[in-house]
Amino acid sequence: MTQRHAPATERNREPILEVLATHLPPEGAVLEISSGTGQHAAHFAPALAPREWLPTELEPENLVSIAAWRERYPSANLHPPQRLDVSAPYWWSEPRSSGQPITAIVNINMIHIAPWHCCEGLLQGAEHILATGGVLYLYGPFKRGGRHTAPSNAAFDSHLKNQDPTWGVRNLESVIELADHHNFNHLTTVEMPANNLSVLFSRR
Ligand SMILES: C[S@@+](CC[C@H](N)C(=O)[O-])C[C@H]1O[C@@H](n2cnc3c(N)ncnc32)[C@H](O)[C@@H]1O
Repeated sequence: MTQRHAPATERNREPILEVLATHLPPEGAVLEISSGTGQHAAHFAPALAPREWLPTELEPENLVSIAAWRERYPSANLHPPQRLDVSAPYWWSEPRSSGQPITAIVNINMIHIAPWHCCEGLLQGAEHILATGGVLYLYGPFKRGGRHTAPSNAAFDSHLKNQDPTWGVRNLESVIELADHHNFNHLTTVEMPANNLSVLFSRR
């Protein structure tokens, strides 16, 4: 079993948990997209019970890591990880249920480290999966009004684009506009440490 470690998750998990505890529906299942190492899932699932937590990932090594974190920190409401690629056509039609309806989708630090069509796939799937009142949570760095909010975010954006020109820090207003197109109202934006944002949407 190979547990991966992402140091950022240890810094951001408490501030994120506070926002999730405040805004997620009190019941049902939370579908986590791009769970990464699985550290967030292992930390959030027991803290957010009785909600069920459904971790998913694209990368096989991360699926192994999520399973390892789950084995080390078992929680009755933390489900085994499943493979999920938001760029796959009709990804939302695959069953992801825990017996509870999915009432929230959580996606942390993905949309800037993936092509824009992944953000489109995420919103399209979320629109299909969530019923009225369902919550979509996004976390990461964002531009506001087309401008970076900090020099460190501008440097990070350049670094991302050097790795892959289709990646990059997204413009908050563009994401809100796309979400609106997919029947999501922008609920609120919460400023987070290290120039990140929590952005919450509600399915109409
Ligand atoms: C920076 S990591 C963030 C992981 C985790 N959420 C965290 O905060 O530590 C970005 C993640 O997005 C995932 N990812 C990239 N493209 C994806 C796609 N098309 N579908 C689902 N996940 C994807 C990667 O595998 C990676 O785990």
